[in-house]
Amino acid sequence: MNQNHKLRVAVLASGRGSNLQALIDSCRSGEVDARVILVISDNPAARALELARKNSIPATVIEAKGYHSRHEFNTALADAVERSGADLVCLAGFMRVLSEAFLERFNGMIINIHPSLLPSFPGLNAQKQALEHGVKVTGCTVHWVDRGVDTGSIILQDCVKVEPDDTVETLSQRILKQEHVIYPKAVQLIASGAVKAPVR
Ligand code: GAR
Repeated sequence: MNQNHKLRVAVLASGRGSNLQALIDSCRSGEVDARVILVISDNPAARALELARKNSIPATVIEAKGYHSRHEFNTALADAVERSGADLVCLAGFMRVLSEAFLERFNGMIINIHPSLLPSFPGLNAQKQALEHGVKVTGCTVHWVDRGVDTGSIILQDCVKVEPDDTVETLSQRILKQEHVIYPKAVQLIASGAVKAPVR
């Protein structure tokens, strides 16, 4: 990474985009020494795209159905990220598992936020899994992305208490609030050089 410029961040998001907004806000406020330079969504209806436009950030839609294979789709995603000159790729509610075609090209440059204390409850519906398991504490995790699903090495975590009357919605909401705190913090740890990608 070139130390003379702000960390350039590309965000991949499939939906609401609240983590995207938290990253944008923290970069704007100076809390994070980085800049969101591109938003990519696989979902043309994603609110994340609207947020990008509102914040004058280039946004692009790359839909899986526009490609013959997962490999071609991932290559298109990777081409877009490469053209942007991003130093870091942040997955923020990106609901697809990236393939080798993407991972190989951005080794040690991809991070993700997940709504549980990994390695507990990887994959989909992490908050529901936590409730069904009856855990009393859950939380959120920012981690490097590797070839597995939510298995990469952990950068930051925060915990959230599960209340006896929690529903998936109420618990998700409280976890989300913490996500908005730790995701920017994790990006700042990388921007400052305090945290580096694990060597593979
Ligand atoms: C967040 O809770 C994020 O942790 C989760 O999707 C939500 C996206 O919200 N990601 C995953 O579950 C990935 N496995 P947002 O679009 O408002 O940032």
